[in-house]
Amino acid sequence: GVTHVPYGDTAALEAAVDEDTAMVMLEPMLGEGGVVPAPPGYLADAAAAARSAGALFALDEVQTGMGRTGAWFAHEESGVQPDLVTLAKGLGGGLPIGAMLAFGPAADLLQPGSHGSTFGGNPISCAAALAVIDTIAGDGLLSRAKQIGAFIAEGVAALADPLFTGVRGQGALVAITMSQPQAAALESALRAEGFLVNAVAPDAIRLAPPLVITDDKLSAFLDALGTITMGSDS
Ligand SMILES: Cc1ncc(COP(=O)(O)O)c(C=O)c1O
Repeated sequence: GVTHVPYGDTAALEAAVDEDTAMVMLEPMLGEGGVVPAPPGYLADAAAAARSAGALFALDEVQTGMGRTGAWFAHEESGVQPDLVTLAKGLGGGLPIGAMLAFGPAADLLQPGSHGSTFGGNPISCAAALAVIDTIAGDGLLSRAKQIGAFIAEGVAALADPLFTGVRGQGALVAITMSQPQAAALESALRAEGFLVNAVAPDAIRLAPPLVITDDKLSAFLDALGTITMGSDS
């Protein structure tokens, strides 16, 4: 079975892990859960809890990996060394592909043939993923991801709209937080203007723009954000 614990609560995680635990798995920053960065030290504490129980330590970087946060992997800054890292989404640049990286002894656990799927190893998707890696490296998209996040944060601050209370996240994975629980209405209003965002909490929308987005497109989004009237008294 799987035991879920509140994100960022080291004590709860440590209490849930014992010698019967096979693996501890978490996101280095919550994506769908509201774009919530890990509290300082949390990843290291989680890794230590897994290690002392003899469990694998896995990081789900499906949303945060492949440069989205301004590094190839969001966990890099924390200094932890996971046994496993899962990837998908940005890895294929739009084509369907998922991957699992394994390090150290964990890299010997699966051997060729021990895990297969009908379309696994699809050469077109693999070629796309290799092109994505080259493009991220060659076009400087890691630093561009950081610029995108800063551009959005500065743009939202410049709106000086009391409805928008701040921006959290890392690189080009950000949430705009709101003083009112109107994220769903804002998501709909922005979609009508041609911008896809996700209401990941009643009072927060998530933005995960492509790393190749231009400043003009970001400015158009910020303009739309500034002109949308939510009908609130904020
Ligand atoms: C963080 C995270 N992990 C895993 C998944 C599932 O990935 P897949 O669709 O490749 O199984 C998602 C999908 O949204 C996700 O956001």
